[in-house]
Amino acid sequence: MNIKALNGFKDILPGEVELWQRVESVARDIFARFNFSEIRLPILEHTDLFARAIGECTDIVEKEMYSFVDKQITMRPEATASLLRAVIEHGLLVQKPVQRLFTIGPMFRHERPQKGRLRQFHQLDVEVLGSASPLADAELMALGASLLVELGLAVSLELNSLGCPACRPAFRANLLNFLRDRHAALCNDCKRRCTTNPLRVLDCKNPDCRAQVADAPSLHTHLCDDCASHFHAVQEGLKQLEIPYRLNKFMVRGLDYYCRTTFEFITGDLGAQAAVGAGGRYDGLIEQLGGPPAPGIGFALGMERLVLLLQQQAAKAVGAGLDLFVAGIGEHPCRHAFALTHALRQGGMRVAMDHEGRSLKSQMKQAGKAGAAFVLILGDQELASGQALLRNMNTQEQQEIALPDAAATIRAIIRS
Ligand code: HAM
Repeated sequence: MNIKALNGFKDILPGEVELWQRVESVARDIFARFNFSEIRLPILEHTDLFARAIGECTDIVEKEMYSFVDKQITMRPEATASLLRAVIEHGLLVQKPVQRLFTIGPMFRHERPQKGRLRQFHQLDVEVLGSASPLADAELMALGASLLVELGLAVSLELNSLGCPACRPAFRANLLNFLRDRHAALCNDCKRRCTTNPLRVLDCKNPDCRAQVADAPSLHTHLCDDCASHFHAVQEGLKQLEIPYRLNKFMVRGLDYYCRTTFEFITGDLGAQAAVGAGGRYDGLIEQLGGPPAPGIGFALGMERLVLLLQQQAAKAVGAGLDLFVAGIGEHPCRHAFALTHALRQGGMRVAMDHEGRSLKSQMKQAGKAGAAFVLILGDQELASGQALLRNMNTQEQQEIALPDAAATIRAIIRS
């Protein structure tokens, strides 16, 4: 019998590796622009670290950790706890009171594998330690949003505030009161959550539980003054940076260390695994792990999910093809082609051109590969005569287009 990879563990083959490299190189470039330094961490840690940081009663710690040697040692299920352990161990916050760090690497969770959910997966993890400023929250979300935009991915940002130890207990009591009458209709996990962490009932994916909590009390109306003004300032920061977001009062997150800001980058294109990235603030955690009383915030993007989205997008692009390829030959025609391409794209057409000064033959090949329906040929001669050639790639028929109103004529021809 041939030995195969373990279920939930995946080889990344040539062809796909290039997408991983692209994700990592865009990420590294953005991390540098936002002034983050890299830290590299071990994969094995004391089990206690994760139990204390993530929470004894979370799904990750209760059911999903790969632990061995009498369960004393664990393969990290996430990066935040390890990163904080390293920062505390090496006194980094004493050297510099605000640390801006990122780490990239594999994580391990014994979950049921499915599309976008693996047992070994990879995260791009970013953390800001030592800053309580709401601007740090907005800046971190702006970093995530920029990374996704630069990868060409349309993903939405959802935002919530979970309050703090001062205001959450009153909300918890209120929520428990609300859930009491609905207890029988909740799933078994949520029945258990009512005693361990009732807030998690709010983000259960089970449709029956969702229906039960549809008009549950909102944490937003229970925030203490400090949390409310922090939450307001985070939103002001996002508005100032023009980062679109949506409030989601049901987002609680599966790790216990969060307080105040939590956020997720969500896609509709990966089925059940909608979160491409997620994170939040964890003031108090550094101290809880034996470090100084420094606040912190961070998030992690799942690399498998980013790569899947890029692959799906490429598949869609091949399927859908291009409306037009503008083949410019020579410097002046290329400049003209550049402006025309932009005008047509703004008019809603899918248009591509070559920026590398390649020959007409090579550009025709590119147009064919990209599935272009039409090619517009534009050389010095065409510029001089004011007429360009539009070729229908299906029928190979060609027609002359007057350049001054080329955009409108091409749009009309292609639409008909
Ligand atoms: P998380 O929500 O558990 O948060 O994971 C962050 C991201 O990792 C998810 O949004 C998802 O894209 C990816 N991910 C998680 N589990 C899997 C899996 N089994 N297969 C594939 N991808 C997965 C954390 O891990 C926190 N440490 C994030 C954070 C950093 N919070 C503060 N700082």
